[in-house]
Amino acid sequence: MKIAVVLGTRPEIIKMASVIDEIENRGHELLLIHTGQHYDKEMSENFFIDLELPTPDYNIHVGSGSHGKQTGKMMDGIEEVVLKEKPDILLVQGDTNAVLAGALVASKLHIPVGHVEAGLRSFDETMPEEINRLAADVCSKLYFVPTEESAINLMMEGISRKRIIITGNTVVDACFRNLKIAESRPIEKYDQSLAELDIDNMENIVTLTMHRAENVDIKERVENIIGALGELSEMNIIFPIHPRTKKMIENFGLFDKLNNMEHVHIIKPVGYLDFLLLISKSTFILTDSGGLQEEAITLDVPALTLRYNTERPETVTAGGNILVGSDKDVILENARKILDDAEFAEKMRSAKNPYGMGNAAKIMLDKIIDADANDELAVRAPDAVMATFTRKLVVPGEDVTVSEFEEANNALVKIVFDGEDVKFPYDDLNLNGLTVIYEDYN
Ligand code: UD1
Ligand code: UDP
Repeated sequence: MKIAVVLGTRPEIIKMASVIDEIENRGHELLLIHTGQHYDKEMSENFFIDLELPTPDYNIHVGSGSHGKQTGKMMDGIEEVVLKEKPDILLVQGDTNAVLAGALVASKLHIPVGHVEAGLRSFDETMPEEINRLAADVCSKLYFVPTEESAINLMMEGISRKRIIITGNTVVDACFRNLKIAESRPIEKYDQSLAELDIDNMENIVTLTMHRAENVDIKERVENIIGALGELSEMNIIFPIHPRTKKMIENFGLFDKLNNMEHVHIIKPVGYLDFLLLISKSTFILTDSGGLQEEAITLDVPALTLRYNTERPETVTAGGNILVGSDKDVILENARKILDDAEFAEKMRSAKNPYGMGNAAKIMLDKIIDADANDELAVRAPDAVMATFTRKLVVPGEDVTVSEFEEANNALVKIVFDGEDVKFPYDDLNLNGLTVIYEDYN
């Protein structure tokens, strides 16, 4: 198969690395398209080096710009490549503008789209990422979701369960593979900034990252967060600063204030191996990053998330992540709890990782190859003149699995309720006594 992968920003490179490896290891043809949204060496190239990834076949070089311009340029570039290369499937990851552009272009060219990390919802439509997620999920053929919770989000939007594959998150693949490599390096191999800070012998480390528009573009929020940092003077706060954040903090005239805090160490963004090492040595992390909330719970590090909502609610319900927003008092109150209450901190550290075993890419490739072999990937009009169905509700009173029910009734199970709870209808789920909404194709 010829499998196209579209990526363009730091987290997409990290989270598609295991998928790229898997495509190549199985001998499929990889078509790697970089949109060029992130272009600084420390936001892009360094990750290709750390993760030993092949050079992209195409770089669209969109650079920075407004959402409309960026997305438009990406669509133009991706369309040209896809028309020329005709991949069998195009994969996008996450919720950046590349996801929107890639999914729209491919679906209109009748190329099946696989959305990696599909189904996440913050329910906050002011976030550009939420719009990207929703739009990409309308255009996708296969949905690779990290958890049951994200699968249920999609089912509630009407997506067929047969197209949803629960894989875990590829960030776990990346963490498990690379932390070992990171830990085995001598300090001379660390990024110079981390070697100079001597992080191996540093105590009380807090890793801080932020870049979310709803934080860093608003002066008041940045001031509140900086205020909280100022009061955590017993900690060593290491802050690999995202270029967007640096630009905005400078524009607000707050850079010197932050830089003058002796316990805050502002450094350039570091490569993936260095960053994993940094997280693993942290007492807790402060972040508004999506990926970092997942990595923290994977590496048993408590996370305080500088947001008021999250599309990663599993981390919060598992107990490893607390949403503290940009409220100085709430940030400090929770930071103090982690520092002063050993039992509280231990409970956060031992929260169960909801993102799988680190084999997400393998599950994905198995499914893609299987779907291709069974001719499930083709994008075409329904065979029947007008395929119709009726939606019905039933409570089966006998042992019957989802697959058996579908076969016996010429039906597609849409949603299953167990009392008040919504359940994901796995093929072998016993429906006895559960409430089932299904599509009847008779
Ligand atoms: C983008 C994604 C966001 C993702 C983040 C990962 C969208 C809508 N946003 O946000 O979902 O979480 O990447 O980091 O797709 N800049 C540089 N050098 C670079 C890249 C950016 O200096 O290599 C600066 C530019 O001033 C640019 C600003 O950062 O205007 C913002 O970059 P942009 O790619 O538009 O958005 P991110 O905030 O990085
Ligand atoms: N990361 C990194 N170096 C850094 C900061 C972050 O390697 O200096 C990694 C981090 O481990 C995570 C990813 O970048 O996997 C998160 O990217 P970002 O926060 O930019 O995007 P988001 O996940 O919010 O979309």
